[in-house]
Amino acid sequence: MITIAPSILSADFANLAQEIEKVERAGAEILHLDIMDGHFVPNITIGPPVVASIRRVTRLPLDAHLMIAEPDRYVDEMVRAGVNWISVHIEADAHIDRTLSYIQENGLKAGVAVNPATPISALEEVLPSADFVLLMTVNPGFGGQRFVPSTLQKIRRLRETIDSCNYRTRIEVDGGIGPDNLAEVLDAGAEIIVAGSAVFKAQKGASEAFREMRGIAEGHGRIIEKPRKSASRSVS
Ligand code: DX5
Ligand code: ZN
Repeated sequence: MITIAPSILSADFANLAQEIEKVERAGAEILHLDIMDGHFVPNITIGPPVVASIRRVTRLPLDAHLMIAEPDRYVDEMVRAGVNWISVHIEADAHIDRTLSYIQENGLKAGVAVNPATPISALEEVLPSADFVLLMTVNPGFGGQRFVPSTLQKIRRLRETIDSCNYRTRIEVDGGIGPDNLAEVLDAGAEIIVAGSAVFKAQKGASEAFREMRGIAEGHGRIIEKPRKSASRSVS
């Protein structure tokens, strides 16, 4: 199932509740939150208190993308703040297997995030247990950057690996994606599409921009294809 995940990084932070309401009303199914520490990435964004406030104004599942050093130190606080998915960067965590298990033990979806220059071979051991891979399609730290072209091939290779091994791991992509390149990213095999500036900085407004992207996703082959029932199922 393909999902567009609006990232509030490009929203108006002085009016977060209203910004979130726009995409929630437009049909968003999940909200992407970028947590940056000024250390793992050059930028600083929001921490647990703001996440907890966001939790109070929306029913959407919250997808926390931790761009912080030693992310395992903040899992408990994020759980308390009420997020539903947590992704941690493989480049920032020496014990990623332990962190992913810990996130899952808390009843959350656990994702492993990878920078554009990190090879997907680095994911080999955690791929079967991670709920999702967050494949960065820009270098993390800022919204509104240009999609890194080499990551398209990386999405394809990750899709092939996951399919050939029959893993259930989902592929989330993040950075530089908008209506113009969404189809390409979907063709490559991505399922959860983060979009920040394409939604919240759009001239037409966040609701309309979100609907446009969701329309592209709905028109995409992989979403309109109905699952085929097996013979045994159809007679039961
Ligand atoms: C960047 C963040 C992204 C960001 C994407 O480091 O991880 O989630 O919000 O923004 P756009 O869609 O504008 O590239
Ligand atoms: Zn992100």
